[in-house]
Amino acid sequence: MMLEQLGIQPGERLLELGAATGYNAALMATLTGADGHVTTIDIDEDLVAGAREHLAAASIDNVEAVAADGALGHPETAPFDRVIATVGAHEVPAAWLDQLTPGGRLVAPVRLRGCASRSIVFERDQDGWRSLGSEMAIFMPLRGLGDDARRVLDLTGTGEVTLQIHKDNNHATDPDTLTGVFDSPACEVWTGVHFVPMESFEWLDLWLACHLPNPLMRMEVAPAAKESGLVRPMFPSVAMATTAADGSLAYLTIRAADPDPDGGRRYEVGVIGHGPNAQELAEQVSVEISTWDQASAPAPSDSPFPTPRPSRTPTPASWSWTAPPSP
Ligand SMILES: C[S@@+](CC[C@H](N)C(=O)[O-])C[C@H]1O[C@@H](n2cnc3c(N)ncnc32)[C@H](O)[C@@H]1O
Repeated sequence: MMLEQLGIQPGERLLELGAATGYNAALMATLTGADGHVTTIDIDEDLVAGAREHLAAASIDNVEAVAADGALGHPETAPFDRVIATVGAHEVPAAWLDQLTPGGRLVAPVRLRGCASRSIVFERDQDGWRSLGSEMAIFMPLRGLGDDARRVLDLTGTGEVTLQIHKDNNHATDPDTLTGVFDSPACEVWTGVHFVPMESFEWLDLWLACHLPNPLMRMEVAPAAKESGLVRPMFPSVAMATTAADGSLAYLTIRAADPDPDGGRRYEVGVIGHGPNAQELAEQVSVEISTWDQASAPAPSDSPFPTPRPSRTPTPASWSWTAPPSP
C-alpha cells in the first residue's frame, strides 16, 4: 500500500528510513530498476548488517544500506526523487523534505496530534507541501533525534489504567489532577451512532483527533480494572480518551445495540466521563461523534440492487505545510 502511494518510476533515486530486514528496500530497488538507486537507513547497526546480507543474497546491487539516524536523511546521496519512512514520525523531519528533488514525493506515517497515525503522501505546491492522500498505518516511532517523547500517566496509582500522552496534549493532562480520576462517579452518554462488526474506527478516530480541543490519547486497561467494573473500554484492553484542563477525562465505550433492519449485528458507541466536568466533556465528545456520523453518511447509491449496509464515506482530510519562498 505504501509502495503504491510512493509511485516509484524506473531510474529514480530513492531514500528509505527504517531498513530493518532490507525487504522493502529490495522491492524499491526492483521497482526503480538497474538505472535507479536506493539508500536505506537504520539506526541499529546489526539490522543494517543483516539487511546488507539479505540484499546480497538476493543479488540486489543497487541498494546502499547505511547505519545512521534517519531523522537527518542522507545528504551524501541526496537529492532523491522519492523518500519513504517505514518508521513512524510524530513530526516530519525537515531533512526529508529538503533532500527531495523539486518534483519529489514523500510518503511517511505521521502521528497526527499525537494519536491518529496515517501514511500521508506529500508533494510540493507553490506554497509549500500538500498531501495527496492518506491511509491508516501504524509504525514503531523514530528513535533518536526524531523521538516523539511520549509519556505514560498512571491514572489509578496501581498501573491498572494508563494514558499515553505527548507534548501536543500536555497542557490538559496534568498528572496531579488526573491521578485518581476514576474515584469520581462515572457519567455515561450514548450517541445513537452504530458500527457493524469489523467496521474500522479509523475515520472516527481521525475526526476526533482533529476536532476535539484536546486530542485523543490511548488509554490502556489491565484485566483487573475491567473485571472490577472500574473501566469499560471500547476494545478489550484499550480505549481512546480525551481530557480537560480541570482534570476531567472522557473515553469511548461500546455496547450491543438492536439489530439493524436487515437483522445484522451492530454496536452503539458511547462516552464515559469522570472528574469535575465529566458530563460536559462526555457530551462534547458525543456531539463530535454525532457530527462525524452525519458527515460520513453513505453516498447515495445508483445501484438497482439493495445493498445490505452501504459503507460510510471516508472523512475528507488534507494536510499542508507552508514553506518560505526559496532565496
Ligand atoms: C518497521 S521497521 C522497517 C521495516 C523495513 N522497511 C523492512 O523492509 O524490513 C522500522 C525500523 O525503523 C528503525 N528505526 C527506528 N528509528 C530510526 C531512526 N531514527 N533512523 C533510522 N531507522 C530507525 C528501527 O530500527 C526498525 O528497524
